[in-house]
Formats: sequence, structure tokens, C-alpha cells
Amino acid sequence: MLATRFTEMFGVRHPIVQGGMRGIAMAELTAAVAKAGCLGFLSAHTHADPEGLRQEILKTRGLTTQPFGVNLTVLPNIVGRDYDAYAQIIIEMGVPFVETAGSNPAKFIDLFKRAGIKTIHKCPSSIRFALKAQELGADAVSIHGFECGGHPGEDDLPGLVLLPAAADKLKLPILSSGGVADGRGLAAILALGASGAVMGTRFLLTQESPLHPAVKARMVAATERDTRMIGRSVRDSSRVLHNRLVDEILEFERRGGADYHELFPLIGAERWIDASHRGDPEDGAYPLGLAVGLIHDLPTVDEVVKRIIAETTTVIQNRLALMVTG
Ligand SMILES: Cc1cc2nc3c(=O)[nH]c(=O)nc-3n(C[C@H](O)[C@H](O)[C@H](O)COP(=O)(O)O)c2cc1C
Repeated sequence: MLATRFTEMFGVRHPIVQGGMRGIAMAELTAAVAKAGCLGFLSAHTHADPEGLRQEILKTRGLTTQPFGVNLTVLPNIVGRDYDAYAQIIIEMGVPFVETAGSNPAKFIDLFKRAGIKTIHKCPSSIRFALKAQELGADAVSIHGFECGGHPGEDDLPGLVLLPAAADKLKLPILSSGGVADGRGLAAILALGASGAVMGTRFLLTQESPLHPAVKARMVAATERDTRMIGRSVRDSSRVLHNRLVDEILEFERRGGADYHELFPLIGAERWIDASHRGDPEDGAYPLGLAVGLIHDLPTVDEVVKRIIAETTTVIQNRLALMVTG
């Protein structure tokens, strides 16, 4: 067992979080994570109609009695989403934990605090957003490093420097988001000052993840050199699987002058979610972290968690502790 500030504060067995993932963090995955003793987050904005979130919460509760949370990613560039309605459903359904992301969470942290809900705010690779979330009353912060799948921000700070720098400045428990796929990574981020790891890429590549098997197979065959950063030209960087569409996007960005609205049909989540439904690994910009280079199989969530916890314990007890000789 590994006890950290995060496990104690959130009452979870293991210091592992399944981050909200649009199109992926559905009932089967999040329930499996909860059953394995970790904290899983359903993705609110996967459901264009907020009532879809209510149904997904009910479905998850049908699969597990363990607690889980909801990720509320508020994206200013996605129009027509009723974020207040998602928040209302989260409160009405008595969801105990929320992972906020995407924008300033002030309004939602306040709302959730009054409802007795604990909030983890996810910050792109920068300490300034984490300090702001602390000031706003978040219960914990999750800091995205340069390694992560999805949106790492524009500062290009990897966890090795970002985490200890953040730990020096923040009072809140810190979760490290990005790059952890095994027990060596979990031991490392705990050593650097985090109280737990948020994992996306490792949980994306499990039996319970709804990604199409053909896309999973393509990702499992990928190495740490097979991701690319797209969206940089419009300051909306995203780390994704390197494929045919991503080469087209990068060429488009290299030519210059592309604005967000021109890029959106190519880089937006709708495109890769649709490509995944069709089983096409080449026609979507699939979010994917550098940790893909550490992933070589498609286990169940339970196997992943058991393996990571056993390996972390071995690394700490049998490798690191034995290095201290005097
Ligand atoms: C396919 C995919 C979709 C994601 N979608 C979201 C999202 O909608 N909202 C969010 O806050 N984070 C999202 N993330 C980020 C994850 O929640 C998590 O923070 C990140 O994947 C951790 O880094 P890792 O991929 O290196 O494990 C996504 C990540 C992936 C891989």
C-alpha cells in the first residue's frame, strides 16, 4: 500500500487517477478504475446533451459501488455546450469529486465547494495556473507536463523540473499528469513531490477503453518517437499519435496563416472519435502521450493497477532504499 496526501484526502486506495478523456472516459473504463481502487473521472463534454452525463453516471453506478468523479472540461472554443447544466447534474447526482480543466475554474470551484464536492483542477504545464487554482480554493491540483497526451500548454516543461518547482511553491496536494505508465514512473513522480499520478495514455490502452481495436493495435506498436505536437501555430498545442492526418495538419501549420477555425475540423475531437468508430488509425489526430513508448500490451485496468503498484513498491523498497548505505 502507498499512502500519500492524495489517498488520504480523497479516500482512494492507490495514488492513481484516470484523467477525464473525451470520447474515452465512459462507464466501463471509469467503473473498472474505481473497482481497482483508483479514482476515475467520466468525461462530461463527451455528452453533447447534458442529460447524457446523467445516464452515464447511472450506468457507472450500475457497474460499481465505488466512488468516482466527473471531468468538467470547459473549452471556450467549443460552442453550444451548457457547462452550467453539466455542473447541475454533477451536484444533483451527488458525485463526490470533479476534475476541472480547460478554463479558469473560479465559478465552478465555488459552486462545487458549496455542494461539498472536492475539486482537482488540471493545469497546463505551468505553475502559475496551479497557484491560481490554489487561491481559488481547489482541493488539489493536477499539473500537466510536456509528456502528456492531449493539451500540455505552451510552456514545454517536462515533469522532472515542473513537479519539484511546483512542490516548492504550492501547499495543496499535487498530482502529476503525463508520462506515467508503470511503477518506475509512479515512484519517480512521488519522489519529485507529487502525491499521485493522473494517467490517460495507459488507461486508453486497456481492454475496457472504448477505442477501436485497430487504433489500439496501431498505438501499442508505436514508440516514444511516434507522437507529434499539433495546434502550436494557434497556441492550442496537443500531443497526438503521428499518422497521415497529422502530417497534413503539420504541413498546413508550416505553410502559415492557418487560423483556429480552419484547423478545427482537422484537429478537433469529433474527427478522431469518428475515425475511431470507423477503425481508421490514420484519419484522426488521436491524443496520445509520450508514455506510449512504455506500453506494449492491452491488459485489463485491474492488471495495469496491480502491476504498477507492485512495481512502485519494488522500486522504492528494493532499488532506492538499498542505495542508502550509510
Ligand atoms: C485520448 C485522450 C483524451 C483526453 N481528453 C481530455 C479531456 O477531454 N479533458 C481533460 O481534462 N484531459 C483530457 N486528456 C488528458 C488526460 O486526462 C490526462 O491528463 C493525460 O492523458 C495524462 O497524460 P498521459 O497521457 O501521459 O498519461 C485526454 C488524454 C487522452 C490520451
